[in-house]
Amino acid sequence: MKIAVIGTGYVGLVAGACLADLGNQVICVDIDESKITSLEKGIIPIYEPGLEEVVKRNVLEKRLSFTTDSAKAISDSKIIFIAVGTPQGDDGKAELKYVYAVAETIGKNANEPKIIVDKSTVPVGTSRKVKELAEKFSEHRIEVVSNPEFLREGSAVKDFLEPDRVVIGSDNSEAAKAIEDLYKPLGKEILITNPESAELIKYASNAFLATKISFINEIAAIADRVNADVSEVAKGMGLDARIGKQFLNAGCGYGGSCFPKDVKALQKIALDCGYKLDILREVEKVNEYQKMLPVEKLKKELGSLSGKKICVLGLAFKPNTDDMREASSIKIIHALVKEKAQVVAVDPIAEENAKQFLPKIHYEKSPYAAAKGCDAVMLVTEWNEFLELDFAKIGAEMNSKIIVDGRNAYDREKLVAMGFKYIGIGR
Ligand SMILES: NC(=O)c1ccc[n+]([C@@H]2O[C@H](COP(=O)([O-])OP(=O)(O)OC[C@H]3O[C@@H](n4cnc5c(N)ncnc54)[C@H](O)[C@@H]3O)[C@@H](O)[C@H]2O)c1
Repeated sequence: MKIAVIGTGYVGLVAGACLADLGNQVICVDIDESKITSLEKGIIPIYEPGLEEVVKRNVLEKRLSFTTDSAKAISDSKIIFIAVGTPQGDDGKAELKYVYAVAETIGKNANEPKIIVDKSTVPVGTSRKVKELAEKFSEHRIEVVSNPEFLREGSAVKDFLEPDRVVIGSDNSEAAKAIEDLYKPLGKEILITNPESAELIKYASNAFLATKISFINEIAAIADRVNADVSEVAKGMGLDARIGKQFLNAGCGYGGSCFPKDVKALQKIALDCGYKLDILREVEKVNEYQKMLPVEKLKKELGSLSGKKICVLGLAFKPNTDDMREASSIKIIHALVKEKAQVVAVDPIAEENAKQFLPKIHYEKSPYAAAKGCDAVMLVTEWNEFLELDFAKIGAEMNSKIIVDGRNAYDREKLVAMGFKYIGIGR
């Protein structure tokens, strides 16, 4: 099948490369010329484990190519995926101008009936608007299928190729079948529903996961006050199949390009249809508080943070990505700086992106160098390399042996036995 993917970011590039890997002829389009030039030179513009191999293999086998020429990509393809960004707009609504611009371009360049597949996360009703808009500019019939994406940065290739489910939302059975056929080789559950349900599934899923995180963070607050260990509580809860283990890690809050904006957007969707979604307001409130918690706890321990040197381990919004969008590290470091602390940060991959958000702090390449002379080490992103540290060496570098474990990732007993003051979240 000839496919164009418009928007070659975290989702579009992964989707394009993986669809090519399934044997399709895929052209990835972006308006960002530097991105396309890099890709044409074999340089992957984002950090995503395993992606480079899939891209290189499919370029070599001539199934995958890149362009800024959307008109040609559209006229050459039967199926066109939209994978542009839908960032948070005014009043919490998803900003749809990029999606609509692509819909218009598709309409203007459709030389035969086309199927648009909307992979961007969009408010309920958007698929229908995309169809109206594309058809307004075209003399051909254009079907629109909602196909929300559930991949996680850091394991995006695996998530795309081994999804828990594929959701297809369409009122047109032929268009739905064409997209179902694309995903059939994955051998995974495919749910075909109407466009509104598909669009709502995406927001409901992300909002539910965010709720799970804020819920366990509230339990952590109780654990802190009653001498319980939230990690043990989460383990005990997660063993119940109805609850499940995932997304029950208390810590310094969720971030990223999806949860914060999707939680906001779902509240706006609710308001627009006359319903007030109270639960998500609290989810957000807890999450904002969580980001401040490591700083508050450290301040309580040290009295004042003024002039104290704090080593921050991890900057990306989660491990295995270079994505800094809404990363907890940004709020945490701003708070530390506001308290007049000196911040030294280290991240294995996200340093360059982090500099756009945190230009004034000091960066080190190694956690041992970063810990030198520090009054505390604070774990913010639980990269594997930070979990396997030589703590004797870290401790020897530090001014005072305090560890703030913002992700509850360390062995508290071990660190305490080594003479560290351990500060976790609800443990
Ligand atoms: N990042 C994730 O983990 C993730 C997961 C699931 C769903 N989503 C959703 O997928 C969508 C894309 O997210 P992302 O993280 O890949 O975004 P991104 O910002 O990484 O990429 C979007 C790309 O679209 C390009 N673009 C914008 N307008 C364009 C146009 N008119 N023509 C061609 N290219 C254009 C941009 O230059 C950019 O490269 C969003 O709606 C997001 O909510 C993201």
